[in-house]
Amino acid sequence: MRRPFIAGNWKMYKTNREAEKTVQDLKDKLKEVKSVDVMIAPPYTALSLAAGITDGSNIYLGAQNVHYENEGAYTGEISPPMLVSAGCQYVIIGHSERRQYFGCTDKDVNLRLKSAVTAGLKPVVCIGEKLEERESGKTFEVLSAQLSGSLKNLSEEEKNVLIVAYEPVWAIGTGKTATPDMAEEAHKYIRGKLADMYGRPFASGVRILYGGSVKPDNIKDLMAQDNIDGALVGGASLDADSFSQIVKF
Ligand code: PGA
Repeated sequence: MRRPFIAGNWKMYKTNREAEKTVQDLKDKLKEVKSVDVMIAPPYTALSLAAGITDGSNIYLGAQNVHYENEGAYTGEISPPMLVSAGCQYVIIGHSERRQYFGCTDKDVNLRLKSAVTAGLKPVVCIGEKLEERESGKTFEVLSAQLSGSLKNLSEEEKNVLIVAYEPVWAIGTGKTATPDMAEEAHKYIRGKLADMYGRPFASGVRILYGGSVKPDNIKDLMAQDNIDGALVGGASLDADSFSQIVKF
């Protein structure tokens, strides 16, 4: 059985004062939740503060990106050991906004994933097709290439902690969710591809999250699909009320 995993990606939202209030509210609202893994990914600047609040609670902390070197002359970047020291257990890698606006490639994702796991972080690796790719019938081809590149040569240790997130780019922040059937079709394809890469036992255990306009009113139908094990939530994770409704689907 794959345990549900619901993650909130705050993107570039919330000052420390705003973050403090939201994390505190979430901690109160989610304290009874036992059957779902919950993770929030605030901006870097609010990580330590959030860690102080989530410590000892049932909310895990993640970052939205990470560099692959442990230290060095990389102005503006943050390394895996730094995230660990700020209190993170997870890190989102290869989000479509990192790919689209900051040149992140599958090769970068692979390097970042490996360094993150070495430092003790659990990676949530994002993949997903753009609208024109879906419309030209290339969805599976794109997903296949992203999986082959991003998840190349994984060790047992890396496979054990990996989470994959399928986020069709056309559904992110647009209010257009993939229908549960469309999402399930992609998730099934991804699990099949992972079985080809690393065998069936691994593929049947790995958690695959759906992301793209997940809201309190569509989470139930998405989670009812066989191959959808959770959600990566952007906009609706910024509000403690709506995110906790999603967690309690
Ligand atoms: P959204 O974002 O829920 O606002 O569509 C999802 C994401 O980018 O992870």
